[in-house]
Amino acid sequence: MWADAGRRPPTTGGHVQEHDDYPAPGRVERRPVDADESARAGRSWWDGAADAYQADHGGFLGDADFVWCPEGLTEAEAGLLGGLDDLRGRRVLEIGGGAGQCGRWLRAQGVGEVVSFDLSFRQLQHSRRIDEQLGLRLPVVQADAQRLPFADAAFDTVFSSFGAFPFVPSADDALAEATRVLRPGGRLVFSVTHPVRWSFPDDPTEHGFTVRQSYFDRRAYVEEDDHGNAVYVEHHHTVGDWVRGIAGAGLVLGDLVEPEWPPGNDRVWGGWGPVRGRMIPGTAIFSADKP
Ligand SMILES: C[S@@+](CC[C@H](N)C(=O)[O-])C[C@H]1O[C@@H](n2cnc3c(N)ncnc32)[C@H](O)[C@@H]1O
Repeated sequence: MWADAGRRPPTTGGHVQEHDDYPAPGRVERRPVDADESARAGRSWWDGAADAYQADHGGFLGDADFVWCPEGLTEAEAGLLGGLDDLRGRRVLEIGGGAGQCGRWLRAQGVGEVVSFDLSFRQLQHSRRIDEQLGLRLPVVQADAQRLPFADAAFDTVFSSFGAFPFVPSADDALAEATRVLRPGGRLVFSVTHPVRWSFPDDPTEHGFTVRQSYFDRRAYVEEDDHGNAVYVEHHHTVGDWVRGIAGAGLVLGDLVEPEWPPGNDRVWGGWGPVRGRMIPGTAIFSADKP
């Protein structure tokens, strides 16, 4: 649920956009969407949204900071990837990194080998823009998380902060790809919209507390153009789907972090905000190791 002002609601289709320059919303449908159609819609939507998204959220994310979620939990606080001393000697891959803020933070902490990739070329141009402003180079690649252009076991650590995983139809396939490029002994950590949110409207106020649709309905949230082509797609996987995908990929689940809304964070981002954040989880962060 990222796209409404960076995160679009899967349940209501209503948008609260802080910035005018997002792609126009399409007609809302609920239907199956395969890997190719999801990637096509995602690439074109994020290309069109990247400027507005970075204008709205770039300040909160920080040019070289590592924020896991709208709750504001940072990797500096959480240490989910392991200690920085260990990370410095590792090869790290960021999945769906957008403008690469997280990967850039790792580079700024002295992690030498970090690669970030994203489906959207425009997001990668923002990454380059920030690099030039900061004088810090983050290597980036344009790629689809569903078909990684990297060798088996090429990375020691793979992570994603809301990149790609909410947008893929098969959690199993995406997890298998991430696991393939991870070396034995490596770790995968990724944050996604907390699956329970699928049942609620994407409304950060008290109106967002009423269950409106089944948690078990896996049909994608789709916005279509006048020809029925998907222009925005978001997929839902239950907690059990994620756990099964992790186990099926051969990983061992180490933690499921559900960040609580912290006092002092009054920022509303799509369906996330302090009113609901204090009562129900908004983000799930899965951490799993490859034996
Ligand atoms: C909500 S942003 C998260 C990026 C960054 N961590 C941030 O907080 O801005 C989601 C990103 O996932 C990318 N994305 C969506 N589907 C993808 C896919 N199949 N493969 C790679 N990237 C994808 C989008 O282009 C977008 O940049």
